[in-house]
Amino acid sequence: MAKKLWGGRFKKEIDKDFFEFQKSIQYDYRLARFDIIHSLLHVIALENAKILSRPESVKLSLVLQEILQEVREDKFHHSSDSEDIHTEIQNRVEKKVGKLAQKLHTLRSRNDQIAFDEKFYCFREARNIVKLFTNLFYSLIHLKNSYKNISIVGYTHTQRAQNVIFSDYVDAFFYMFKRDADRLMEFSEKIVLCIGSGAFRGTSLTQEYDKAIEKIVRYLDKDEVGVKINIVENSLEHVSDRDFIIEFLSALSIIQMHLSRFAEDMILFSTQEFNFVDLPEEFCTGSSLMPHKKNPDFLELVRGYTGRIYGNLMALLTIMKGLPLTYNRDMQLDKEPLFSSVDIVKDELKIMARFIKGIKLNEKVIKKALEDESLYTVDLAEYLVKEKKVPFAQAHEITGKLIRYAEDNRCKIKDMDDSLLKGFSIHLNQKIIKEVFT
Ligand code: ARG
Repeated sequence: MAKKLWGGRFKKEIDKDFFEFQKSIQYDYRLARFDIIHSLLHVIALENAKILSRPESVKLSLVLQEILQEVREDKFHHSSDSEDIHTEIQNRVEKKVGKLAQKLHTLRSRNDQIAFDEKFYCFREARNIVKLFTNLFYSLIHLKNSYKNISIVGYTHTQRAQNVIFSDYVDAFFYMFKRDADRLMEFSEKIVLCIGSGAFRGTSLTQEYDKAIEKIVRYLDKDEVGVKINIVENSLEHVSDRDFIIEFLSALSIIQMHLSRFAEDMILFSTQEFNFVDLPEEFCTGSSLMPHKKNPDFLELVRGYTGRIYGNLMALLTIMKGLPLTYNRDMQLDKEPLFSSVDIVKDELKIMARFIKGIKLNEKVIKKALEDESLYTVDLAEYLVKEKKVPFAQAHEITGKLIRYAEDNRCKIKDMDDSLLKGFSIHLNQKIIKEVFT
């Protein structure tokens, strides 16, 4: 078991099973880069407060930067017997500088560190996800440009409703995803990294932190530039609220809902029953028994992951409900749902962008489906209202009767002769019907 950040008041060793049960290093190692930046700022503050001498502060800072570099180069491997990432970094520093490391954790708490780390993680990942949307947008534009001036069947209640221009259909998703990306950007802009909460009541280092903050730019990589940082205003809420995670998970849930709806449309449209689209083979799988099968597994998994993503949001809302102020260990369990949602949505967006590029329309089948005259009843009613000044309710009735007649007599409205049409309305004739129905 690695050295802990506490223990002075304990006589007994921690129970081994309990230690395993309570440790978080197996997932919070992902916060290493942010935790190190917190430490780098803390070292400057400690020097400002004269708790560290200049040489001590330089030494600690160099070692921390060394570890940060390891993280950035993906060479950071955590030991699995540390309690958490804060302990892990502390022990690393101690290995490199010996006793001096004991001064690093002066006047600060893991409660402050973890809130800082998680806010930073959310900022960075929100921005990363916004970037992933760019490829998705290109793919949607590519798809609609590949099928200009083509109409498809539009649905309400999953019943044929009206014909609709294909590019409008694609744009519908474009606008939904655009709002999703904007929502994440706004979320990231609202994030302010706070420092100086201590365990919850604040610390005497406030002024020293204040002077340290401007130096943070030294330690940021390109994906972290633009993050805001400030002295904490209310340290109680800072260490004890996770509303920013709930907000992030909500935004991810909305993205997931949109992805799932798109997936569902494509699953439906690619069935033999619809057969409007041909899905890219490289994102489908076959059946071990039925040789003919080409299954839309990617789309099904996207739809299925909605359970996980909504569940993660529910988990956080439930963990936070009823927690007495301020920090409680329950909050440690916020990380797995957060990381899980971020990972899933990132993978989905990455693959979906490539998937959409490969979608093909079966134009012949679509054209045949568009021959269904019921798709044009609204156009006919609108014609009667606009051109013949018939009140809409009456136009609705006339058109309804017409379509019912065609259904009952298994004929096409287009094939009805003028005298038959006149029976429904004096304004109707074959020429008008042809015009409206094509
Ligand atoms: N692992 C903890 C978490 O994720 C860090 C804070 C621990 N604080 C404490 N007092 N035990 O929430």
